[in-house]
Amino acid sequence: MFDRIAGVYDLMNGVMTAGLHHRWRSRAADLAGASPSKAVLDVATGTGDLAIEMASRGAEVVGMDFAPEMLANARRKAPRIRFEQGDAQALAYEDASFDAATVGFGARNFGDLRLGLAEMARVVKPGGRVVVLEITTPTKPPLSTFFSLWFDRLVPALGRVAGDSDAYTYLPASVKRFPDAPALAALLHELGLRDVGWVLTAGGIIALHHGTKP
Ligand SMILES: C[S@@+](CC[C@H](N)C(=O)[O-])C[C@H]1O[C@@H](n2cnc3c(N)ncnc32)[C@H](O)[C@@H]1O
Repeated sequence: MFDRIAGVYDLMNGVMTAGLHHRWRSRAADLAGASPSKAVLDVATGTGDLAIEMASRGAEVVGMDFAPEMLANARRKAPRIRFEQGDAQALAYEDASFDAATVGFGARNFGDLRLGLAEMARVVKPGGRVVVLEITTPTKPPLSTFFSLWFDRLVPALGRVAGDSDAYTYLPASVKRFPDAPALAALLHELGLRDVGWVLTAGGIIALHHGTKP
């Protein structure tokens, strides 16, 4: 599915979020501590926007994803970043090899969320950070009402215009089945991360979770 939508992916992100996704990625890069001399893994990197944000801060970034067409777009955008194909649920990296691991809008697509997050924690060095940027379902009106209109009606309609109705019907469904912010934080804690917390932004539609490996 992600290979199929690779060509429209960036445009759809821009339209669906009115360009705000760049700001959210910047928050994620802050939380990951992306800076010169830091090695960061961006899991499920897609077309590479979060990897590019972190590389722009001087971090040494590896972006990984299983969809070749998404990776091809990432490489076109940032030929200097190392983009590698692989499975987030069986990362091909040594234990404790990165200062931070991030995932942007990717975790809700993992077949096994616990395993994907455990892999991120495994490859991070002690003291390193795991950061999860994800869409979350707002619970309070008026945003919950707006969100449901936007996500259940507008996004699938935009998907039809973009030529892939299935992918953009899948998107709201994948968000609904994803754990809410406290449950995701509890999972990160269960996986051994400490100082777990989260920041909600965009009126509660976007959650940035972070945890530190002891
Ligand atoms: C919605 S896109 C997000 C892309 C990018 N991180 C961003 O912020 O725009 C989700 C990405 O997760 C990737 N993905 C999903 N499950 C994966 C897995 N098990 N291993 C590697 N990549 C995966 C897909 O190929 C897709 O590129």
